[in-house]
Amino acid sequence: MKKLYIETYGCQMNVADSEVVASILRNEGYIPCADPKEADLILVNTCSIRENAELRVIARGKQLQALKRKNPELKVGFIGCMAERMNEDLFEKLKGIDLLAGPDSYRNLPELLRKSSGNLKASDVLLSTTETYEDIAPEHYQTGDITAFVSIMRGCNNFCSYCVVPYTRGRERSRPVQSILREIEQLNQQGFKEITLLGQNVNSYKIETENTEYHFPTLLETIAKKYPQLRLRFATSHPKDLSEDLVKTMAAFSNICNSIHLPVQSGSNNMLKAMNRRYTSDEYMTKIELLRKHMPNITISTDIITGFCGETEDDHQQTVEMMRKADYYYSYMFKYSQRDGTAAAKLIDDVSDEIKGRRLQEIIDLQQELSLQHNRRDIGKTFEVLVEGFSKRSSKQMFGRTEQNKVVVFDAQNIEPGSYVHVIVEACSTATLKGKLISGSQEV
Ligand code: 5AD
Ligand code: SF4
Repeated sequence: MKKLYIETYGCQMNVADSEVVASILRNEGYIPCADPKEADLILVNTCSIRENAELRVIARGKQLQALKRKNPELKVGFIGCMAERMNEDLFEKLKGIDLLAGPDSYRNLPELLRKSSGNLKASDVLLSTTETYEDIAPEHYQTGDITAFVSIMRGCNNFCSYCVVPYTRGRERSRPVQSILREIEQLNQQGFKEITLLGQNVNSYKIETENTEYHFPTLLETIAKKYPQLRLRFATSHPKDLSEDLVKTMAAFSNICNSIHLPVQSGSNNMLKAMNRRYTSDEYMTKIELLRKHMPNITISTDIITGFCGETEDDHQQTVEMMRKADYYYSYMFKYSQRDGTAAAKLIDDVSDEIKGRRLQEIIDLQQELSLQHNRRDIGKTFEVLVEGFSKRSSKQMFGRTEQNKVVVFDAQNIEPGSYVHVIVEACSTATLKGKLISGSQEV
């Protein structure tokens, strides 16, 4: 057997894709390994979402060049969004790379490996309108053995003006229901306890079978009913497509977690319009109210871009206001980064880096405050926690997550990871709840 090391950058979708790649290459005699120095083949699954993400990958590529010089037998490939976006330019930037494969070309990896030898390089960045890797059973080796990612759709048709994803991952397409159910059945049999359904926009999931048209809520309901013992999460939802149907389905099944990631990007209507987000801040708030009406204890997280083209101080303040109103328990916050080929690349990137930095710091500070307040409100409450393992800090403490996706640490040593326990929250920091195990709650 040869050894394969995959290094994954970017989103959860990329993690799921790396698991598809590992499965494809197992059939070629490669098994995943944990140390790049031992590998016969290193694949870097790349991300193009912001310039910084690409710079990190290029820096890593330079290190791998050095590794390749020491071991000329080693093959190195760059796969995913950067391979798609930069194509042959990557060969130029990182001499010594053997192959490139875009997100829809992973089936072709064995062929690319055969074609690339010595100075011969191989590349395939053809996008597909149909590829979902539905017949490939991913190797779930990256997220532990309790939680797993399952990809349900690929690509994106939204064309937010700042975003490179529609260009690197192509058009939306949904994976057949039977294929999704087959993967979940396997995960269930292997003892996994939590599944996160993934897609660039899960709400756009749509499959027509002989007698049913499946939309995302129908799919979610089917899984929730069939596997009442599995916790279900999903990401990412576009606010414009979040339907009442979905909210009601989430509320109706206790195994669908009351937690949602709902990227707002900005609180200002001017910015939302320039970003082509196709909702106003009021419409976004209406969705949040709907979620809270049906699930009063739901937690909501978001993505925010600060310093988008033309963003004024007033626009920024509207984002600050939105964060308070939506009461996010967590936010991913980014400085706007111009991406070639997107619609926003034609606008003037006129907010200076200094101002972007200052605004970013302001919203980071605010989110810290909101997260702390949010966690403080949990003190005294009891939660069902899915135990994931031992705390990194102490072998006398274990940790798990609440349905609301908050990490809880508690004193315990002998609970089987994968069990459910009840924990009463006694203290918190911005990032974690600290609790006490309620006796007799080992198996819920
Ligand atoms: N600049 C900064 N952030 C971006 N995102 C997407 N494109 C860009 C960009 N060009 C952010 C958005 C998205 C998240 C995955 O990354 O907030 O929701
Ligand atoms: Fe990065 Fe977006 Fe590609 Fe994921 S889809 S790897 S976030 S560019």
